[in-house]
Parts: sequence; structure tokens; C-alpha cells
Amino acid sequence: MELLKTKAEMRQAVAACRCDGLSVGLVPTMGYLHEGHISLVRAARAENGLVVVSIFVNPTQFGPSEDLARYPRDLERDLALCREAGADIVWNPEAAEMYAEDAATWVVVEGLTERLCGESRPTHFRGVTTVVSKLFNVVRPDRAYFGQKDAQQAFVVRRMTQDLDFGLDIVICPTVREADGLAMSSRNIFLSPEDRTQASVLRRALDAAEGMVAAGERRTATIKERVQQVLAEASLARPDYVEIVDTNRLQPTEVVEGEALLALAVFFGRTRLIDNTILRIGL
Ligand code: PAJ
Repeated sequence: MELLKTKAEMRQAVAACRCDGLSVGLVPTMGYLHEGHISLVRAARAENGLVVVSIFVNPTQFGPSEDLARYPRDLERDLALCREAGADIVWNPEAAEMYAEDAATWVVVEGLTERLCGESRPTHFRGVTTVVSKLFNVVRPDRAYFGQKDAQQAFVVRRMTQDLDFGLDIVICPTVREADGLAMSSRNIFLSPEDRTQASVLRRALDAAEGMVAAGERRTATIKERVQQVLAEASLARPDYVEIVDTNRLQPTEVVEGEALLALAVFFGRTRLIDNTILRIGL
């Protein structure tokens, strides 16, 4: 496995493999890897000749009061995990390599970024779509792998890829969870022991909603009310949003028809956790 730093090295390495006829799978990450990230690397490994993992804590997707400075990093450990999961290249550029000082261009997906995390983090998604476009332009993958855990991000990136004709497949992989149901996240280390114990409430709230839909409930107001009730059982949980949106435009819907995305964001102290499930009728 190779560790590359510059765009030039990255372009060259991929070009050489393309000549050998290998397909390229890209797993974009911000590092501090866990089993959720590694599941994406494994999926990429199964489907591609060359597997590239990017590790870049992207400054443009953090708001001014967010946790860029304290975002956890451990490159040595990340490299060991990537090697073990069968990655061929880890690309770890510096911020100055990634963004020119006079950069003036943003990639913005409208509509889908208005609600959910876009509402509480207004500049977040333009940072994500801009950096992901840059990663795609340098690596030029055939497939790129994203987690269902960040469902809005995955849907936004998929729409961007279609709208801008990137000509690659976006593969969305299932959320990997801890034994008690908490979705794995690099931010879980910020939870106090009490927060960590209570944080499994997110999965329980999603389960309650799934149960209601299975029992025939279709009204989103009723489902959301029940979700809020379950979240209220955890004294340390402060919900940021509970929303049910359609899976195409990510706009709120009054009834669940076909499928809908139930998404939650909940603060424990300063740490904001997100989770989601697709509610499906008739399955
Ligand atoms: P990061 O939070 O490091 O996540 C990288 C990828 O891992 C994302 O696609 C995310 O959805 C996926 N992932 C995280 N936790 C997961 C879990 N428990 N199960 C399954 N997949 C999981 O998301 C980002 O970085 C950045 O926004 C990025 C796309 C790299 C752009 O900077």
C-alpha cells in the first residue's frame, strides 16, 4: 500500500493503473477510521482493481463554531486499518495542497441541501460537494463509496454526480453499528460515559418508527411525535431535528408513501450525533 500526498502523485498512480485496465474505487474519508469506514473499503475492494482511500479533514465543510480544530486524527492507525482492509493507495493531502489560497469556486446542490443537516449547518454541504468534486476530478474513479449513516450527504453527492455528468457510480453502503445500536462515528469519542450509555436512544427511536410503519401508520406527524417521546426518555439528549422527508427531493412529507427517510440529529453536550432509516411501506 502506498501513501501519497500530492495531486500530481495521485493522478500519476491512477493513470498507470488505468493503463493496466484496472477499475478504480474511491472511498472519501476524513480519517480516524472505524469499522463503518472500513466496511466501505471492503466493498470497494470487492468491486475494483484499484482501491483508493482519501483521508482529508476538509476545512470548508466545518462551520465557524464547529469542531474542525478538535476533529480527531491518527494517521498511523488509519494506515494500518487501510492496509488490513486491502486498500492500494491512501491519499492524504495537506489543506494547502487541496485548496489554492485564491480559490473562488463552490459546487452547490440546491433543494436537497435545504433541510435536515443543511438547516442547522448552512455552509456544510457546499464544502462537502466542493471537496468531493475535487477528489473525483483528481482520482477519476469508476465507483465511489459512501455510508447510509450520512444519508443526506450520500443523496446530495449522488445528485451532484448525475447533474454534473461525473460518469461514475455512487455506491451507498449500510450503516455499521455498535452492539447497542449506536451508529459508529469518529465523533463518538467525545461522548462522556453517561452520554455514551444514553446515545443508544437514537437507534431505539428509529426502531419505534419502523415498528409503527410496519403496523400500518402512515402519518409522519404521528411518527415524529413518537420518535420525540422516545428521545425524551434520555435525559441528556437534546434533539436538533427529527424529520421525515421524501428520498428524492429530501422535502418534508405528510404521509409515508413508498419510502421516506426518517433522519435525526441529537446533541449530547456539544457532540451532535446523526442517524437515519428508510421507512418502507409493504416490506
Ligand atoms: P467521514 O465522516 O470520515 O465519513 C466517510 C464515509 O464513511 C462517509 O461516506 C460516511 O457516510 C461513512 N461512514 C461513517 N460512519 C459510518 C457508519 N457507521 N457506517 C457506514 N458508513 C459510515 O463523510 C465524510 O467523512 C466527509 O463529509 C467526506 C465525504 C469525506 C467529504 O469530506
